[in-house]
Amino acid sequence: MTGNAELILDGKSLSLPTVTGSEGEVGIDISSLRAKTGAITLDPAYGNTGSCYSDITFIDGEKGILRYRGYDIADLAEKSTFVETSFLLIYGHLPNAEELQTFSNLLTENQMLHESMRFNFQGFPASAHPMAILSAMINAASSYYPNLICTVNRRERFPNHAARLISQVRTIAAYSYRVSHGLPTIFPKSSLHYTENFLHMMFSNPGEDYELKPEIVRALDMIFILHADHEQNCSTSTVRMVASSQANLYASASAGVCALWGPLHGGANQAVLEMLEQIHQDGDDGTKFLKAVKDKTSNRRLMGFGHRVYKNFDPRALIIKAQCDKVLAQLHRSDPLLEIAKKLEEIALNDDYFISRKLYPNVDFYSGIIMRAIGIPVDMFTVMFAIGRMPGWIANFKEVMENPDSRISRPRQIYTGETLRSYRPMAERA
Ligand code: CMC
Repeated sequence: MTGNAELILDGKSLSLPTVTGSEGEVGIDISSLRAKTGAITLDPAYGNTGSCYSDITFIDGEKGILRYRGYDIADLAEKSTFVETSFLLIYGHLPNAEELQTFSNLLTENQMLHESMRFNFQGFPASAHPMAILSAMINAASSYYPNLICTVNRRERFPNHAARLISQVRTIAAYSYRVSHGLPTIFPKSSLHYTENFLHMMFSNPGEDYELKPEIVRALDMIFILHADHEQNCSTSTVRMVASSQANLYASASAGVCALWGPLHGGANQAVLEMLEQIHQDGDDGTKFLKAVKDKTSNRRLMGFGHRVYKNFDPRALIIKAQCDKVLAQLHRSDPLLEIAKKLEEIALNDDYFISRKLYPNVDFYSGIIMRAIGIPVDMFTVMFAIGRMPGWIANFKEVMENPDSRISRPRQIYTGETLRSYRPMAERA
């Protein structure tokens, strides 16, 4: 469905076409605005700006809907695997048995890092944050595959490069953990599935294999599925922006890791755990902390709450909360931080400050408690998010690469600085 919007600027009327997405979302196409009027639109933080057409992920923030390629997130979380979901995101359909086997084989064939890359790990100080290592090493990996750089080859070699990135990000992540803890690195095993292999590389020791408990493997696989894509968020927009310059897949993904790192985005899962630990250490049940959050001068936020798009609930949070209870019960663990999280949620959901601002728990509120139960260190939480998000970034990179109308992303600005002034020699300056 198409229509028109009427813009009146300085008394002159301009007709702008509207576009409608497959789920009924309406956009006003302003691509001719500057050419016709000399004016631009201003939308800091892009809350009202659609930057692209995309077939990958649909979110309805008011209704709490999240779908990958048309499949509901709850359905995928319950029935799919991370590898199958990755294929779905990248190639647009659920794989048949042969396609899944080929994709899995590609992941296995590409799981080993180039031998020389092992030396790169030694260059990081023990205090390096694993996200710094991850972004640097993904970018470094591109230097071992020179044909990545050639844009002519981007299409034909894409399936290999995509599989290599999904596979190796897991190896790099596990190595970064091992190196930063002074532990020997563990090679992946071809006999293990994706998530099993990650746990093996994280927690096995020479001569002593980590015991792979199905409930733990399943919980982590589900965490990866829930993080696999999320439409045009900060990191995915970054990946698309970098890809629009025709930078290679690894460079684009590495930029995505950096954008994800911040505590308002993927870094929130680490920030949530640190917040819960602090509340616990202070002997608070969350009540005092929430008082401070509501006091704007404290500059505190309830981490793991709020979302730019979801205004009723984050469907991922519902799934992850249920999974959290299940995992702790299966492992026969209780966690005082889970009790604090539940208390915070209960108070916040009944408090006018949070209700009036439509602030609800997001995916990061409970994911950290599951990861903590699995034994993943807090500074690796955002790395887990990055492993999960990789297929989404790759799918978005592919969309940019395959779009014949793709142009380099280049927003404009409203300049508010000095107008023209003359250069004055040093002696004349006050
Ligand atoms: N705790 C307390 N107040 C909050 C929070 C929070 N977590 N989030 C938003 N607010 C308040 C904010 O102070 C503002 O109040 P006022 O109107 O009085 O100035 C109002 O709610 C609107 O906030 P905003 O910052 O304009 O909202 P935004 O859409 O720009 O930010 C957000 C979204 C996710 C960055 C923000 O809600 C936040 O900082 N949450 C905590 C960090 C977090 O959990 N991030 C993970 C997001 S989900 C994972 C992902 O996809 O990245």
